[in-house]
Amino acid sequence: MPVTVVTLKQIETQLDLIITRPPSGLFLKGNLQVPGDKSISHRALMLGAIAQGETRIQGLLLGDDPRSTAVCFQAMGAEISVLNAAAVIVKGVGVGELQEPVDILNAGNSGTTLRLMLGLLASHPGRFFTVTGDKSLRSRPMSRVVQPLQQMGAQIWGRGNGSLAPLAIQGQRLKPIHYHSPIASAQVKSCILLAGLMADGDTTVTEPALSRDHSERMLKAFGAKITVDPETHSATVTGPAQLQGQTVIVPGDISSAAFWLVAGAIVPDSDLLIENIGVNPTRTGILDALAMMNADIQLENQRIVAGEPVADIRVRYSRLNACEIAGDLIPRLIDEIPILAVAAVFAQGTTVIQDAAELRVKESDRLAVMASQLNRMGAKITELPDGLEITGNTPLTGTEVDSHTDHRISMSLAIAALNAKGITTIHGAEAATISYPDFTTTLQRLCNRGSAEQLV
Ligand code: S3P
Repeated sequence: MPVTVVTLKQIETQLDLIITRPPSGLFLKGNLQVPGDKSISHRALMLGAIAQGETRIQGLLLGDDPRSTAVCFQAMGAEISVLNAAAVIVKGVGVGELQEPVDILNAGNSGTTLRLMLGLLASHPGRFFTVTGDKSLRSRPMSRVVQPLQQMGAQIWGRGNGSLAPLAIQGQRLKPIHYHSPIASAQVKSCILLAGLMADGDTTVTEPALSRDHSERMLKAFGAKITVDPETHSATVTGPAQLQGQTVIVPGDISSAAFWLVAGAIVPDSDLLIENIGVNPTRTGILDALAMMNADIQLENQRIVAGEPVADIRVRYSRLNACEIAGDLIPRLIDEIPILAVAAVFAQGTTVIQDAAELRVKESDRLAVMASQLNRMGAKITELPDGLEITGNTPLTGTEVDSHTDHRISMSLAIAALNAKGITTIHGAEAATISYPDFTTTLQRLCNRGSAEQLV
């Protein structure tokens, strides 16, 4: 049987992922698991670091982003054991007890690390912090968290009137506010709620649509007084709070499972069971979108694990139809739009994605990059100011494409390559390690069945 050849080529620190699709005979079958949820991993490390006592984290994502979080909080006095998926032990310092670090805190590529951490740093009176990140993070907007924190009395300085990292923070005693966020962003919401832990009274965040609610769930589990109003998309934390260390069991990341959900849906004859995936309703927009597209997806073995809904997800190949993705659905699938664009390329009809201007300020401008890279392969995608218009059923041909150092772009292009004629070379494929260190190995395992010598 012909096999899809998946190989890697190292060029200094960059990796080329080369995918050679056979003319026929490729299908994806079997059971697999994906790494721990990135959002939950960050929050478990952070809440563990500021709680009293010990937090035990099972299933932590071992990607570069949570490593950035761990290093930052170690620098401020939290004791964190060697990161591993079995059990990470965090000995916290207690709310308000983060130490002044002796050096700059570096959040690397991680917007979640930087934005959530800012809420904590700004609320430590008398302590001084400097924070930065990599080239991508230093270009991403921070005013969305800096401005509400300043309303609470925070003192923060940086380029562009405090809107770009590096940032300097002089911690203050903050006052509680009711913040009406103009965007549905879990990073903004979580930053303000974390700052509210140290403020005297009720800090409320109201957002235009509900973003992921992992912070609310985990703060509650750690003993904070927190209430949510699903009608108004509001969450209120009452400070000053004390948190108690907990056991956190991190489910598989639906944002990582999304690559296999789309791969299974577009590669003929595929049948995959992706086990132990977090299916928190604030994250399952990808399942709703794929259902609208006529994908064959079933949830099995649904259960609650440590306060988060979890299921095994089966996907089988089916012919996809185009759909429209906009409005309140967007925050529920914000990170899955690059891979949904790949699904849309193979669907019948024209898919329109709107209200997704936020994608322009992610790790890359994901609208521009997905349109340009898939169009290089033969797709017909038009960029809209806040989305994409994708003419489906366009055959793709392998060529050279680039991840633009964005993990989700790198993996989305690899899945597109599975259905592209010939050879696709993805430059900068190492970006996947941000959220999915084993992505290439899993891809090789699924594609190169019976050809173990091809594994790196
Ligand atoms: C995240 C929130 C989202 C998401 C990001 C992770 C989080 O960002 O895109 O990957 O863990 O809170 P925004 O809050 O900017 O939408």
